[in-house]
Amino acid sequence: MEKTEFLTPFGIEFNLAQGAMLDYEERVVRRASDLRTYYRDDDALEQLIAEGNDPLLYEVFEKDIPESYGHLRVVVSKLQPGKVGDEFFMTKGHYHTVSGTAEVYLCLRGAGYMLMKTMDGHSHEERMVPERLIYVPPHWAHRTVNTGDEPLISLCVYPGEAGHNYGDIKEQGFPQRVVEKDGSAVIEHS
Ligand code: F6R
Ligand code: ZN
Repeated sequence: MEKTEFLTPFGIEFNLAQGAMLDYEERVVRRASDLRTYYRDDDALEQLIAEGNDPLLYEVFEKDIPESYGHLRVVVSKLQPGKVGDEFFMTKGHYHTVSGTAEVYLCLRGAGYMLMKTMDGHSHEERMVPERLIYVPPHWAHRTVNTGDEPLISLCVYPGEAGHNYGDIKEQGFPQRVVEKDGSAVIEHS
């Protein structure tokens, strides 16, 4: 058995009604310019960057938990509402570097989808609504999409050693895109 890093037990404070982790220690910010090449409509993204002063699209609130074997990382992911062209705001999406590691997402606020895919061509989507937990099994890349008009907020828990492989998704994308058509959210498959 691998040796795990020693840590003194602790609690984490939440305001579940707001979907907020109150005593987070790190905050990762992703702005529109961080998502270049991810959306179908590059011009619409550039317009958003120019006219919206490179708006914040999503944040991840984190506790200082070791990114190593045996630990569980506990974070809150908060994705703003909006669209790039007709495509709803989404996270970059990633495989875990240790791809045989799972993750759970408990949706706290908002509405949207979890898009998932595997390296060998499977794809799957799950609806995200408050009080619904999505189990992302090992080997499934995952991306969240906000189809509502308020932030989509989830509590995520994943193994400390998982790591994030963004490169494969940046190159290949997902086979699903969530777009607005005639006023409703539609998942397009390629
Ligand atoms: C961690 C995880 C989430 C995401 C967050 C931002 O493994 O899946 O905490 O990191 O929703 O999305 P990405 O990391 O794809 O930019
Ligand atoms: Zn993940």
